Amino acid sequence: MRKTLLVVDDDLNFLSTIREYLNSRGYETTTVSSPVMALDLFKKTGFHVVLLDQKMPDLDGTVLARKLKEIDDTTKIIILTAYPDVNKAVKLIKEGVIADYLTKPIELADLENTLSHVFNEIKLEIMERVAARGRKLVITTQPTEYLKEVFEFVQIASKVRSPVMLTGETGTGKSYIAGLIHKMSGRANFVHVNCAAIPESIFEAELFGVEKGAFTGAITKRGMFELADGGTLFLDEIAEMPLPIQAKLLDAVERLKIRRVGGEREIPVDVRLIVATNQPVTELIKKGKFREDLYFRLNVLHFHVKPLRERTGDIEILAYAFLKEFFGKEIYLKRKTIQAMKAYTWPGNIRELKNLIEKSYILSTHTGHSVDEIIFSELTNRGKTTVIERKMEEEKVLPIAELEKRAILHALSVYKGNKSQAAKALGISLSTLKRKLKTYNI
Ligand SMILES: Nc1ncnc2c1ncn2[C@@H]1O[C@H](COP(=O)(O)OP(=O)(O)OP(=O)(O)O)[C@@H](O)[C@H]1O
Ligand SMILES: [Mg+2]
Repeated sequence: MRKTLLVVDDDLNFLSTIREYLNSRGYETTTVSSPVMALDLFKKTGFHVVLLDQKMPDLDGTVLARKLKEIDDTTKIIILTAYPDVNKAVKLIKEGVIADYLTKPIELADLENTLSHVFNEIKLEIMERVAARGRKLVITTQPTEYLKEVFEFVQIASKVRSPVMLTGETGTGKSYIAGLIHKMSGRANFVHVNCAAIPESIFEAELFGVEKGAFTGAITKRGMFELADGGTLFLDEIAEMPLPIQAKLLDAVERLKIRRVGGEREIPVDVRLIVATNQPVTELIKKGKFREDLYFRLNVLHFHVKPLRERTGDIEILAYAFLKEFFGKEIYLKRKTIQAMKAYTWPGNIRELKNLIEKSYILSTHTGHSVDEIIFSELTNRGKTTVIERKMEEEKVLPIAELEKRAILHALSVYKGNKSQAAKALGISLSTLKRKLKTYNI
Protein backbone atom coordinates (compact mmCIF):
# COMPACT_ATOMS: atom_id res chain seq x y z
CA MET A 1 0.00 0.00 0.00
CA ARG A 2 1.21 3.48 -0.80
CA LYS A 3 1.44 5.80 2.18
CA THR A 4 0.59 9.40 1.41
CA LEU A 5 1.26 12.26 3.77
CA LEU A 6 0.63 15.98 3.76
CA VAL A 7 2.67 18.21 6.07
CA VAL A 8 1.46 21.74 6.75
CA ASP A 9 3.78 24.17 8.55
CA ASP A 10 4.91 27.78 8.02
CA ASP A 11 8.51 26.89 8.81
CA LEU A 12 10.11 26.17 5.41
CA ASN A 13 13.29 24.67 6.87
CA PHE A 14 11.30 22.26 8.92
CA LEU A 15 9.28 21.29 5.86
CA SER A 16 12.27 20.44 3.72
CA THR A 17 13.98 18.42 6.45
CA ILE A 18 10.89 16.45 7.28
CA ARG A 19 10.02 15.81 3.64
CA GLU A 20 13.44 14.36 2.96
CA TYR A 21 13.32 12.22 6.07
CA LEU A 22 9.81 10.86 5.54
CA ASN A 23 10.38 10.14 1.85
CA SER A 24 13.47 8.15 2.78
CA ARG A 25 11.20 6.11 5.07
CA GLY A 26 8.82 5.18 2.25
CA TYR A 27 6.16 7.82 2.81
CA GLU A 28 5.01 9.84 -0.19
CA THR A 29 5.26 13.25 1.36
CA THR A 30 3.83 16.54 0.11
CA THR A 31 4.50 19.76 2.00
CA VAL A 32 2.77 23.13 1.96
CA SER A 33 3.51 26.24 3.99
CA SER A 34 0.06 27.75 4.32
CA PRO A 35 -3.20 26.37 5.66
CA VAL A 36 -5.12 27.93 2.76
CA MET A 37 -2.96 26.10 0.24
CA ALA A 38 -3.38 22.95 2.27
CA LEU A 39 -7.14 23.25 2.10
CA ASP A 40 -7.09 23.85 -1.67
CA LEU A 41 -4.81 20.91 -2.27
CA PHE A 42 -6.81 18.66 0.02
CA LYS A 43 -9.94 19.33 -2.01
CA LYS A 44 -8.14 17.99 -5.09
CA THR A 45 -6.17 15.07 -3.66
CA GLY A 46 -6.71 12.70 -0.82
CA PHE A 47 -4.03 11.94 1.77
CA HIS A 48 -3.92 9.12 4.26
CA VAL A 49 -2.42 11.31 6.98
CA VAL A 50 -2.00 15.04 7.51
CA LEU A 51 0.59 16.53 9.89
CA LEU A 52 -0.53 19.98 11.00
CA ASP A 53 1.31 22.70 12.81
CA GLN A 54 -0.88 24.05 15.58
CA LYS A 55 0.09 27.71 15.30
CA MET A 56 0.04 29.18 11.83
CA PRO A 57 -0.42 32.81 10.79
CA ASP A 58 -3.70 32.79 8.86
CA LEU A 59 -5.52 29.76 10.28
CA ASP A 60 -5.27 27.86 13.53
CA GLY A 61 -4.29 24.17 13.17
CA THR A 62 -7.33 22.96 15.08
CA VAL A 63 -9.71 24.90 12.88
CA LEU A 64 -8.01 23.55 9.76
CA ALA A 65 -8.20 20.02 11.17
CA ARG A 66 -11.97 20.30 11.49
CA LYS A 67 -12.29 21.61 7.95
CA LEU A 68 -10.20 18.76 6.55
CA LYS A 69 -12.23 16.18 8.43
CA GLU A 70 -15.39 17.64 6.92
CA ILE A 71 -13.97 17.05 3.45
CA ASP A 72 -12.63 13.57 4.11
CA ASP A 73 -13.44 11.79 7.32
CA THR A 74 -11.09 8.87 6.60
CA THR A 75 -7.97 11.05 6.77
CA LYS A 76 -6.02 10.87 10.01
CA ILE A 77 -4.70 14.13 11.40
CA ILE A 78 -1.73 14.57 13.69
CA ILE A 79 -1.19 17.97 15.33
CA LEU A 80 2.31 19.29 15.93
CA THR A 81 2.54 21.77 18.75
CA ALA A 82 5.23 23.66 20.59
CA TYR A 83 2.98 24.46 23.55
CA PRO A 84 1.14 21.29 24.38
CA ASP A 85 -2.22 21.77 25.99
CA VAL A 86 -2.80 18.14 26.89
CA ASN A 87 -6.42 18.59 27.94
CA LYS A 88 -7.36 20.22 24.68
CA ALA A 89 -5.50 17.55 22.66
CA VAL A 90 -7.23 14.72 24.48
CA LYS A 91 -10.57 16.38 23.86
CA LEU A 92 -9.82 16.61 20.12
CA ILE A 93 -8.78 12.96 20.04
CA LYS A 94 -11.98 11.93 21.81
CA GLU A 95 -14.05 13.93 19.35
CA GLY A 96 -12.31 12.08 16.52
CA VAL A 97 -10.89 15.27 15.00
CA ILE A 98 -7.26 14.29 15.43
CA ALA A 99 -5.65 10.89 15.71
CA ASP A 100 -2.73 12.02 17.85
CA TYR A 101 -0.48 14.97 18.67
CA LEU A 102 3.28 15.45 18.82
CA THR A 103 5.32 18.00 20.73
CA LYS A 104 7.82 20.24 18.97
CA PRO A 105 10.78 19.96 18.59
CA ILE A 106 9.89 16.63 17.11
CA GLU A 107 11.85 13.51 17.95
CA LEU A 108 12.10 11.52 14.72
CA ALA A 109 11.65 8.25 16.59
CA ASP A 110 8.38 9.51 18.11
CA LEU A 111 7.19 10.66 14.74
CA GLU A 112 7.90 7.26 13.19
CA ASN A 113 6.14 5.44 15.99
CA THR A 114 3.08 7.59 15.73
CA LEU A 115 2.97 7.26 11.96
CA SER A 116 3.30 3.52 11.97
CA HIS A 117 0.56 3.29 14.58
CA VAL A 118 -1.77 5.51 12.58
CA PHE A 119 -1.09 3.63 9.34
CA ASN A 120 -1.84 0.34 11.05
CA GLU A 121 -5.18 1.75 12.09
CA ILE A 122 -5.90 2.78 8.52
CA LYS A 123 -5.00 -0.68 7.26
CA LEU A 124 -7.33 -2.30 9.77
CA GLU A 125 -10.15 0.03 8.80
CA ILE A 126 -9.65 -0.82 5.14
CA MET A 127 -9.61 -4.52 5.88
CA GLU A 128 -12.77 -4.34 7.94
CA ARG A 129 -14.56 -2.51 5.19
CA VAL A 130 -13.40 -4.96 2.56
CA ALA A 131 -14.30 -7.92 4.76
CA ALA A 132 -17.82 -6.63 5.26
CA ARG A 133 -18.19 -6.32 1.51
CA GLY A 134 -16.73 -9.77 0.89
CA ARG A 135 -19.13 -11.41 3.31
CA LYS A 136 -22.10 -9.85 1.61
CA LEU A 137 -20.96 -11.21 -1.72
CA VAL A 138 -20.87 -14.93 -1.01
CA ILE A 139 -22.77 -15.67 2.08
CA THR A 140 -26.50 -15.25 1.80
CA THR A 141 -28.80 -15.49 4.80
CA GLN A 142 -28.24 -19.18 5.45
CA PRO A 143 -24.98 -20.36 3.95
CA THR A 144 -24.53 -24.05 3.35
CA GLU A 145 -21.66 -25.98 4.88
CA TYR A 146 -19.82 -25.88 1.61
CA LEU A 147 -20.13 -22.15 1.05
CA LYS A 148 -18.91 -21.69 4.61
CA GLU A 149 -15.89 -23.82 3.79
CA VAL A 150 -15.18 -21.65 0.77
CA PHE A 151 -15.46 -18.52 2.86
CA GLU A 152 -13.22 -19.87 5.59
CA PHE A 153 -10.56 -20.63 3.02
CA VAL A 154 -10.91 -17.14 1.57
CA GLN A 155 -10.45 -15.63 5.00
CA ILE A 156 -7.32 -17.61 5.79
CA ALA A 157 -5.84 -17.07 2.35
CA SER A 158 -6.46 -13.33 2.51
CA LYS A 159 -4.39 -12.96 5.66
CA VAL A 160 -1.12 -14.40 4.31
CA ARG A 161 0.96 -13.88 1.23
CA SER A 162 1.66 -17.50 0.22
CA PRO A 163 0.59 -18.55 -3.26
CA VAL A 164 -2.91 -19.93 -3.67
CA MET A 165 -3.94 -22.65 -6.07
CA LEU A 166 -7.57 -23.05 -7.06
CA THR A 167 -8.71 -26.12 -8.96
CA GLY A 168 -12.11 -27.27 -10.14
CA GLU A 169 -14.30 -27.66 -13.20
CA THR A 170 -15.23 -24.74 -15.37
CA GLY A 171 -17.72 -22.33 -13.85
CA THR A 172 -17.31 -23.53 -10.26
CA GLY A 173 -16.23 -20.08 -9.09
CA LYS A 174 -12.43 -20.14 -9.16
CA SER A 175 -12.08 -16.64 -10.60
CA TYR A 176 -14.76 -15.43 -8.24
CA ILE A 177 -12.90 -16.85 -5.23
CA ALA A 178 -9.63 -15.34 -6.45
CA GLY A 179 -11.35 -11.96 -6.57
CA LEU A 180 -12.69 -12.38 -3.04
CA ILE A 181 -9.30 -13.32 -1.63
CA HIS A 182 -7.84 -10.24 -3.23
CA LYS A 183 -10.57 -7.91 -1.96
CA MET A 184 -10.27 -9.21 1.56
CA SER A 185 -6.49 -9.03 1.56
CA GLY A 186 -6.62 -5.24 1.26
CA ARG A 187 -3.82 -5.39 -1.31
CA ALA A 188 -3.68 -2.85 -4.13
CA ASN A 189 -4.23 -3.87 -7.76
CA PHE A 190 -5.79 -7.07 -8.99
CA VAL A 191 -4.21 -8.17 -12.25
CA HIS A 192 -5.93 -11.02 -14.10
CA VAL A 193 -3.91 -12.90 -16.71
CA ASN A 194 -5.50 -15.62 -18.81
CA CYS A 195 -2.55 -17.85 -19.70
CA ALA A 196 -4.54 -19.58 -22.45
CA ALA A 197 -4.94 -16.29 -24.31
CA ILE A 198 -1.26 -15.32 -24.58
CA PRO A 199 0.78 -16.53 -27.58
CA GLU A 200 3.92 -18.35 -26.48
CA SER A 201 6.22 -15.93 -28.36
CA ILE A 202 5.20 -12.94 -26.23
CA PHE A 203 4.49 -14.73 -22.96
CA GLU A 204 7.69 -13.73 -21.21
CA ALA A 205 7.34 -10.09 -22.25
CA GLU A 206 3.72 -9.99 -21.11
CA LEU A 207 4.57 -11.38 -17.73
CA PHE A 208 7.91 -9.77 -16.98
CA GLY A 209 8.02 -6.73 -19.28
CA VAL A 210 10.53 -5.55 -21.83
CA GLU A 211 13.61 -3.35 -21.46
CA LYS A 212 14.21 -0.64 -24.03
CA GLY A 213 16.29 -1.95 -26.93
CA ALA A 214 15.78 -5.62 -25.97
CA PHE A 215 15.13 -6.21 -29.65
CA THR A 216 14.87 -3.89 -32.65
CA GLY A 217 12.37 -1.20 -31.90
CA ALA A 218 11.64 -2.44 -28.39
CA ILE A 219 10.42 0.19 -25.97
CA THR A 220 10.33 -0.17 -22.20
CA LYS A 221 7.20 -1.96 -21.09
CA ARG A 222 6.14 -3.10 -17.66
CA GLY A 223 4.90 -6.67 -17.44
CA MET A 224 2.02 -8.07 -15.42
CA PHE A 225 4.29 -8.72 -12.42
CA GLU A 226 5.17 -5.06 -12.16
CA LEU A 227 1.58 -4.00 -12.74
CA ALA A 228 0.55 -6.21 -9.85
CA ASP A 229 3.22 -4.78 -7.53
CA GLY A 230 1.70 -4.31 -4.10
CA GLY A 231 -1.31 -6.29 -5.25
CA THR A 232 -2.46 -9.67 -6.50
CA LEU A 233 -1.49 -11.42 -9.72
CA PHE A 234 -4.11 -13.94 -10.79
CA LEU A 235 -2.74 -16.43 -13.32
CA ASP A 236 -5.79 -18.15 -14.72
CA GLU A 237 -5.50 -21.41 -16.68
CA ILE A 238 -1.97 -21.85 -15.40
CA ALA A 239 -1.74 -25.29 -17.04
CA GLU A 240 -1.49 -23.49 -20.39
CA MET A 241 1.74 -21.76 -19.44
CA PRO A 242 4.69 -22.85 -21.64
CA LEU A 243 7.37 -24.86 -19.80
CA PRO A 244 10.23 -22.33 -20.18
CA ILE A 245 8.02 -19.62 -18.68
CA GLN A 246 7.11 -21.95 -15.82
CA ALA A 247 10.80 -22.07 -14.87
CA LYS A 248 10.98 -18.26 -14.88
CA LEU A 249 7.80 -18.02 -12.87
CA LEU A 250 9.18 -20.34 -10.21
CA ASP A 251 12.27 -18.16 -9.94
CA ALA A 252 10.17 -15.00 -9.63
CA VAL A 253 7.95 -16.50 -6.94
CA GLU A 254 10.89 -17.70 -4.90
CA ARG A 255 12.97 -14.54 -5.04
CA LEU A 256 10.28 -11.90 -5.49
CA LYS A 257 12.45 -10.31 -8.12
CA ILE A 258 11.97 -10.20 -11.85
CA ARG A 259 14.03 -9.32 -14.86
CA ARG A 260 12.46 -7.71 -17.91
CA VAL A 261 13.15 -9.28 -21.30
CA GLY A 262 16.55 -7.94 -22.43
CA GLY A 263 17.17 -6.40 -19.03
CA GLU A 264 20.12 -6.61 -16.64
CA ARG A 265 18.45 -4.99 -13.64
CA GLU A 266 16.57 -7.06 -11.13
CA ILE A 267 13.31 -5.44 -10.18
CA PRO A 268 11.89 -6.26 -6.76
CA VAL A 269 8.18 -6.97 -6.77
CA ASP A 270 5.75 -7.45 -3.93
CA VAL A 271 3.19 -9.69 -5.56
CA ARG A 272 0.64 -12.10 -4.17
CA LEU A 273 0.08 -14.94 -6.60
CA ILE A 274 -3.15 -16.84 -7.17
CA VAL A 275 -3.31 -19.50 -9.87
CA ALA A 276 -6.25 -21.48 -11.18
CA THR A 277 -6.84 -24.38 -13.49
CA ASN A 278 -9.63 -26.72 -14.49
CA GLN A 279 -7.17 -29.40 -15.58
CA PRO A 280 -5.78 -32.21 -13.43
CA VAL A 281 -2.30 -30.83 -12.76
CA THR A 282 -0.86 -34.05 -11.35
CA GLU A 283 -1.59 -35.78 -14.64
CA LEU A 284 0.02 -32.97 -16.57
CA ILE A 285 3.11 -33.39 -14.41
CA LYS A 286 3.27 -37.08 -15.31
CA LYS A 287 3.04 -36.17 -18.99
CA GLY A 288 5.88 -33.67 -18.56
CA LYS A 289 3.65 -30.69 -19.36
CA PHE A 290 3.85 -29.05 -15.97
CA ARG A 291 6.88 -28.59 -13.74
CA GLU A 292 6.61 -30.50 -10.50
CA ASP A 293 8.76 -28.02 -8.55
CA LEU A 294 6.50 -25.16 -9.61
CA TYR A 295 3.46 -27.19 -8.63
CA PHE A 296 4.81 -27.70 -5.13
CA ARG A 297 5.66 -24.03 -4.81
CA LEU A 298 2.22 -22.89 -5.93
CA ASN A 299 0.29 -25.54 -4.07
CA VAL A 300 0.88 -24.05 -0.60
CA LEU A 301 -2.74 -23.09 -0.08
CA HIS A 302 -4.85 -25.32 -2.26
CA PHE A 303 -8.61 -25.27 -2.59
CA HIS A 304 -10.51 -27.64 -4.82
CA VAL A 305 -13.87 -26.19 -5.70
CA LYS A 306 -16.36 -29.02 -5.98
CA PRO A 307 -18.68 -29.24 -8.98
CA LEU A 308 -22.21 -28.06 -8.26
CA ARG A 309 -23.69 -31.57 -8.63
CA GLU A 310 -21.62 -32.67 -5.63
CA ARG A 311 -22.87 -29.86 -3.43
CA THR A 312 -26.57 -29.82 -4.18
CA GLY A 313 -27.25 -27.85 -0.99
CA ASP A 314 -25.67 -24.80 -2.63
CA ILE A 315 -27.93 -24.95 -5.68
CA GLU A 316 -31.03 -23.62 -3.94
CA ILE A 317 -29.16 -20.91 -2.05
CA LEU A 318 -27.30 -19.69 -5.12
CA ALA A 319 -30.42 -19.86 -7.28
CA TYR A 320 -32.34 -17.64 -4.86
CA ALA A 321 -29.41 -15.24 -4.62
CA PHE A 322 -29.27 -14.94 -8.42
CA LEU A 323 -33.05 -14.59 -8.69
CA LYS A 324 -32.91 -11.70 -6.29
CA GLU A 325 -30.02 -10.18 -8.21
CA PHE A 326 -31.85 -10.28 -11.56
CA PHE A 327 -35.41 -9.58 -10.47
CA GLY A 328 -34.50 -7.13 -7.74
CA LYS A 329 -36.89 -8.86 -5.33
CA GLU A 330 -37.50 -12.24 -3.71
CA ILE A 331 -38.80 -14.88 -6.14
CA TYR A 332 -39.87 -18.29 -4.87
CA LEU A 333 -39.60 -21.52 -6.82
CA LYS A 334 -41.84 -24.55 -6.61
CA ARG A 335 -40.57 -27.70 -4.90
CA LYS A 336 -40.72 -29.50 -8.24
CA THR A 337 -38.38 -26.94 -9.84
CA ILE A 338 -35.86 -27.13 -7.00
CA GLN A 339 -35.87 -30.92 -7.25
CA ALA A 340 -35.24 -30.73 -10.99
CA MET A 341 -32.32 -28.37 -10.30
CA LYS A 342 -30.83 -30.77 -7.79
CA ALA A 343 -31.22 -33.72 -10.15
CA TYR A 344 -29.52 -31.93 -13.05
CA THR A 345 -25.78 -32.45 -13.62
CA TRP A 346 -24.75 -28.80 -14.23
CA PRO A 347 -21.75 -29.36 -16.51
CA GLY A 348 -21.25 -25.57 -16.57
CA ASN A 349 -21.63 -25.34 -12.77
CA ILE A 350 -22.41 -21.98 -11.12
CA ARG A 351 -21.95 -20.13 -14.42
CA GLU A 352 -24.62 -22.32 -16.02
CA LEU A 353 -26.94 -21.81 -13.07
CA LYS A 354 -26.49 -18.05 -13.17
CA ASN A 355 -27.08 -17.98 -16.93
CA LEU A 356 -30.21 -20.07 -16.58
CA ILE A 357 -31.61 -17.70 -13.99
CA GLU A 358 -30.78 -14.76 -16.25
CA LYS A 359 -32.50 -16.50 -19.15
CA SER A 360 -35.57 -17.17 -17.02
CA TYR A 361 -35.64 -13.49 -16.09
CA ILE A 362 -35.51 -12.35 -19.72
CA LEU A 363 -38.01 -14.92 -20.98
CA SER A 364 -40.49 -14.48 -18.15
CA THR A 365 -40.61 -10.73 -18.63
CA HIS A 366 -41.05 -11.06 -22.39
CA THR A 367 -43.24 -14.13 -22.77
CA GLY A 368 -45.42 -14.24 -19.71
CA HIS A 369 -44.36 -17.81 -18.88
CA SER A 370 -43.59 -18.30 -15.21
CA VAL A 371 -40.02 -18.58 -13.98
CA ASP A 372 -40.80 -22.09 -12.74
CA GLU A 373 -42.05 -23.24 -16.13
CA ILE A 374 -39.05 -21.82 -17.94
CA ILE A 375 -36.47 -23.31 -15.61
CA PHE A 376 -38.23 -26.64 -15.53
CA SER A 377 -38.50 -27.05 -19.30
CA GLU A 378 -34.92 -25.83 -19.84
CA LEU A 379 -33.61 -28.39 -17.39
CA THR A 380 -35.55 -31.26 -18.89
CA ASN A 381 -34.18 -30.45 -22.34
CA ARG A 382 -30.63 -29.99 -21.13
CA GLY A 383 -30.88 -33.20 -19.12
CA LYS A 384 -31.70 -35.16 -22.26
CA THR A 385 -28.76 -33.77 -24.16
CA THR A 386 -26.30 -34.52 -21.44
CA VAL A 387 -27.51 -38.11 -21.14
CA ILE A 388 -26.70 -38.66 -24.81
CA GLU A 389 -23.39 -36.81 -24.53
CA ARG A 390 -22.37 -38.86 -21.54
CA LYS A 391 -23.21 -42.10 -23.35
CA MET A 392 -21.08 -40.99 -26.25
CA GLU A 393 -18.23 -40.16 -23.92
CA GLU A 394 -18.37 -43.58 -22.30
CA GLU A 395 -18.26 -45.35 -25.63
CA LYS A 396 -15.76 -42.89 -27.09
CA VAL A 397 -15.79 -43.78 -30.81
CA LEU A 398 -19.03 -44.27 -32.70
CA PRO A 399 -19.63 -44.97 -36.40
CA ILE A 400 -20.99 -41.88 -38.15
CA ALA A 401 -24.18 -43.73 -39.07
CA GLU A 402 -24.81 -44.53 -35.42
CA LEU A 403 -24.25 -40.89 -34.45
CA GLU A 404 -26.66 -39.78 -37.13
CA LYS A 405 -29.28 -42.23 -35.97
CA ARG A 406 -28.98 -41.02 -32.39
CA ALA A 407 -29.14 -37.39 -33.40
CA ILE A 408 -32.37 -38.11 -35.29
CA LEU A 409 -33.88 -40.04 -32.38
CA HIS A 410 -32.93 -37.27 -30.01
CA ALA A 411 -34.44 -34.57 -32.23
CA LEU A 412 -37.67 -36.56 -32.54
CA SER A 413 -37.91 -36.93 -28.79
CA VAL A 414 -37.27 -33.23 -28.18
CA TYR A 415 -39.94 -32.24 -30.71
CA LYS A 416 -42.31 -34.97 -29.54
CA GLY A 417 -42.38 -36.75 -32.92
CA ASN A 418 -42.96 -33.62 -35.02
CA LYS A 419 -40.90 -34.44 -38.13
CA SER A 420 -40.77 -31.04 -39.76
CA GLN A 421 -39.57 -29.37 -36.56
CA ALA A 422 -37.03 -32.15 -36.00
CA ALA A 423 -35.74 -31.80 -39.57
CA LYS A 424 -35.38 -28.06 -39.16
CA ALA A 425 -33.42 -28.47 -35.93
CA LEU A 426 -31.19 -31.10 -37.54
CA GLY A 427 -30.49 -28.82 -40.45
CA ILE A 428 -31.85 -31.19 -43.12
CA SER A 429 -34.92 -31.14 -45.34
CA LEU A 430 -38.07 -33.00 -44.42
CA SER A 431 -37.69 -35.40 -47.35
CA THR A 432 -34.10 -36.22 -46.33
CA LEU A 433 -35.30 -36.93 -42.81
CA LYS A 434 -38.00 -39.24 -44.11
CA ARG A 435 -35.48 -41.10 -46.27
CA LYS A 436 -33.14 -41.54 -43.31
CA LEU A 437 -35.96 -42.78 -41.10
CA LYS A 438 -36.50 -45.54 -43.63
CA THR A 439 -32.79 -46.36 -43.90
CA TYR A 440 -32.39 -46.60 -40.14
CA ASN A 441 -35.63 -48.44 -39.69
CA ILE A 442 -36.92 -45.84 -37.24
N1 LIG B 1 -20.07 -18.22 -4.40
C1 LIG B 1 -20.59 -17.52 -5.41
N2 LIG B 1 -21.56 -16.63 -5.19
C2 LIG B 1 -22.09 -15.94 -6.21
N3 LIG B 1 -21.71 -16.03 -7.49
C3 LIG B 1 -20.73 -16.92 -7.78
C4 LIG B 1 -20.12 -17.70 -6.76
N4 LIG B 1 -19.18 -18.47 -7.34
C5 LIG B 1 -19.21 -18.21 -8.66
N5 LIG B 1 -20.14 -17.25 -8.94
C6 LIG B 1 -20.49 -16.74 -10.28
O1 LIG B 1 -20.50 -17.84 -11.19
C7 LIG B 1 -19.90 -17.51 -12.44
C8 LIG B 1 -18.76 -18.46 -12.74
O2 LIG B 1 -17.71 -18.28 -11.78
P1 LIG B 1 -16.17 -18.15 -12.20
O3 LIG B 1 -16.01 -17.35 -13.45
O4 LIG B 1 -15.44 -17.71 -11.01
O5 LIG B 1 -15.82 -19.69 -12.52
P2 LIG B 1 -14.40 -20.34 -12.86
O6 LIG B 1 -14.25 -21.53 -11.97
O7 LIG B 1 -13.35 -19.32 -12.81
O8 LIG B 1 -14.61 -20.86 -14.35
P3 LIG B 1 -13.51 -21.10 -15.53
O9 LIG B 1 -12.74 -22.34 -15.18
O10 LIG B 1 -14.36 -21.30 -16.76
O11 LIG B 1 -12.67 -19.88 -15.60
C9 LIG B 1 -19.48 -16.05 -12.32
O12 LIG B 1 -20.49 -15.27 -12.90
C10 LIG B 1 -19.42 -15.82 -10.83
O13 LIG B 1 -19.68 -14.48 -10.54
MG1 LIG C 1 -12.24 -18.39 -14.33
